[in-house]
Amino acid sequence: MPDHAPTLVTASASATATAPVPALAARAARTGSSPVRDILALTARPEVISFAGGLPAPELFDAEGISAAFRDVLAEAPRQALQYSTSEGDPALRAAVAARTTARGLPTGPDDLLVTTGSQQGLTLLATTLLEPGDVVLVEDPCYLAALQIFSLAGARVVAVPTDDEGLDPAALDEIAAREKPKLLYVIPTFQNPTGRTLSAERRAAVAEVAARRGLWIAEDDPYGELRFEGEPQRWLASFPGAEDRTVLLGSFSKVMAPGLRLGTLRAPAALRRACVIAKQAADLHTSTVDQAAAARYLADADLDAHLARVRDAYRERRDALLAGLPGALPEGSRWNRPAGGMFVWATLPAGYDATALLPEAVRHDVAYVPGAPFFAGRPDPASMRLSFVTHGPAEITEGLRRLRTALGAAVGREAA
Ligand SMILES: Cc1ncc(COP(=O)(O)O)c(C=O)c1O
Repeated sequence: MPDHAPTLVTASASATATAPVPALAARAARTGSSPVRDILALTARPEVISFAGGLPAPELFDAEGISAAFRDVLAEAPRQALQYSTSEGDPALRAAVAARTTARGLPTGPDDLLVTTGSQQGLTLLATTLLEPGDVVLVEDPCYLAALQIFSLAGARVVAVPTDDEGLDPAALDEIAAREKPKLLYVIPTFQNPTGRTLSAERRAAVAEVAARRGLWIAEDDPYGELRFEGEPQRWLASFPGAEDRTVLLGSFSKVMAPGLRLGTLRAPAALRRACVIAKQAADLHTSTVDQAAAARYLADADLDAHLARVRDAYRERRDALLAGLPGALPEGSRWNRPAGGMFVWATLPAGYDATALLPEAVRHDVAYVPGAPFFAGRPDPASMRLSFVTHGPAEITEGLRRLRTALGAAVGREAA
C-alpha cells in the first residue's frame, strides 16, 4: 500500500461528513417577505380582477416609441450602447432629467444627479451611505413596504410618525424627532404609496423646518408626482427653506415610462451624492448603458409630456370608476379618500372588519386588494386596504367591485352563520 493511501481515505471521509452551513446574517433573517404575498400570488390567474398590484397599466406603455429609441441607439452607436459606462450615469440622460427637474421649479444641473437602477436602488444607496445599525429612521405610518425592508436590512430602527387624511403630521414629527434623535426621515409627499395622500404646501414647509431644526436628512421619494389628474402641482419638499441642503430627491421612470427599464435618479447634496456613487460602484458598477441611452433618446425624440397626458387621462377615468363603485361595494360605515393623482385609493372598513382575514374570500370571488396592515411600521389598522385603480379599465373595475361586494357579504354572512 502506498504511504499516502490512509491520508486519502481520511480526506474523503472528512469530505462526506457534513456540518451545517453558517446561519444567515441577522439582517437577512429578520427581513421577511410580506405575509400576504402567497395569497396575492393567486391573483395572477387571468380571471382575477385585481386592485392589488402596484403595476402601471401595460397597454399604456409607449412600446413603439421605446422600441424606436432602442433601435436607434443600437443602430447608430452600438459600441457605446453595449459597453461599460460610468457609475454616475449617461450624461445625456442626466441633462434631460436635470432640465425637466429645473422646469418643474427645482434648479438642477446634470452633475447634481446620479442615475440609479430604479428609485429602489436610490433608497438602498441611501441606506448604505447614511445608516449605521441602530440608527433611527422616521417613516410615515403607513409606509411603502419595500422601503421598510431596506431600512430593516440596514439594521435601522424604524419609528412610525402618525399621519391623518392629509399625510404626515408635522407636530408629531417634531415631537418624535426630539425624542428619538433620528438620522433620516423617509417621506412620499405626493400621491403616497399606499394611501394616495398628498402633503399640502403648509405641511411641506413645516416638515422642512422641523428637519432643519432637528438636524435630519430627508429622503423625498417621488415616483408618482407626474401622475396628477387635477389641481396644481405641489413644489418638491427639496425646494422649501431648510430642506435644500438635506433632502435627497428620488425620481423614477417606472410610472412615467416603463418599470422594466429599471431607471431612476437620485438628486443629493454633493458629499452624499459622491458617497452614493461609490456605493453604486460596489453594488452594480453602473445602470444598464443601453437602457439609459434608449431613455435619453426617447426623451430627445418622443414627446413624454403627450404620453403622460394620455396616461393621466386613462388613470383619471379609472380612479373615477373606482370611486363611483365603492359606495355600493364596501360595507356601510367604510371610509376612503379621493386622491388627485397617482395609483392608489386607501379605504378603511368599519371597526371590527379585518381586511387580511377577508382577502381569501375575495380571491375566491376572483377579486383582490392589498390589506393595509403590512404597510404600518407602528400599530396596524386591520380594517384598512389599498386599492390600485390603474390595472383594469372602467368596466372591469365596476365588475371587480361587484365581486368585492359579494365577497365581503359572503364572508360576513359566513361569520354570522
Ligand atoms: C414609493 C415608491 N418608491 C419607490 C418605488 C420603486 O420604484 P422603481 O421602479 O423606480 O424602483 C416604488 C414602486 O412602486 C414606490 O411605490
